[in-house]
Amino acid sequence: MPRCVGKTVDGGQCKRDAAEGSKKCYQHKATKGGKKAVGGQCPMKLGGKKEKGEGGDSLYDRLGGAFVIARVVNYFSNEMLRSPKVGINSPNPKLKEWATTKVKERMPGLKFMRSLWVCTATGGPQQYAGTKPGKNQMDLSEAHKEFNITSEEFDEVVGILAKSLDHFGVGEKEKKEVLDAFTAHKKEVVSA
Ligand code: HEM
Repeated sequence: MPRCVGKTVDGGQCKRDAAEGSKKCYQHKATKGGKKAVGGQCPMKLGGKKEKGEGGDSLYDRLGGAFVIARVVNYFSNEMLRSPKVGINSPNPKLKEWATTKVKERMPGLKFMRSLWVCTATGGPQQYAGTKPGKNQMDLSEAHKEFNITSEEFDEVVGILAKSLDHFGVGEKEKKEVLDAFTAHKKEVVSA
C-alpha cells in the first residue's frame, strides 16, 4: 500500500498508509486547506490534538478513524488470548473453550464486530448491529451471557485495552474516553 504524501507537524514525512483511492492518509485527507494533520504531534502519534477548525471532533476522528480502530482491536484481541485470566489458559471454562476451540473460525468475525462496535461508540459513521441483538443497538448482554464473565475478568480486559491503546500511542484524553465507553457496558457483559 502506498504511503501518505502528507507532512507531519514538524515537517517530516507522514508514515501512515494512504487511504484507498487517495494519495493521503485518513487524517491528512480530513484536514482542510493543506494544514498539518495533527497539532503539536506527528500523525503517527495517535489521539493528537487537532488545530482549531480542522476536521471533526468526534472521538472516532481523534483516534484516526476505522483503520486505526481496527488496528487497535486486532492487537487487543490477540493480546486477550495471551492473558492468563481470559485467554487460552483461563480458569473460566467457557472462555478457555472459546480461546482454544472456537478462535480459528470466530476470531476474524469477532475482530470485525468489535471494530464496528467501537466505530459506532466513538461517533463514527458506521452503524453496529449485533449478531445477537440486545435491548438496544449497542447492548452486549446477549453476545456475552453464555461466557459467565466475572467483574474481575472484565477489569482484566479493560487493562489489556488500556495497554493496547498505549502501544499505539493514543493520547491520555482519548484513552480515557475509549475506556469509559467500554466500562459503561460492564453490567451487560458481566453475568457471573
Ligand atoms: C465493553 C466491553 C466489551 C465490548 C465492547 C465487547 C464487544 C464485543 C462484540 C461487539 C462482540 C460480538 C457481538 C456479536 O456477535 O454481534 C463480542 C463477543 C464476544 N466477546 Fe466481547 N466485548 C466486551 C467485553 C468482553 C469481555 C470482558 C470478554 C471476555 C472476558 C469478551 C469476550 C467475548 C467473546 C468470547 C465473544 C463471542 C465471540 C463469538 O461469538 O464467537 N468480551 N464482544
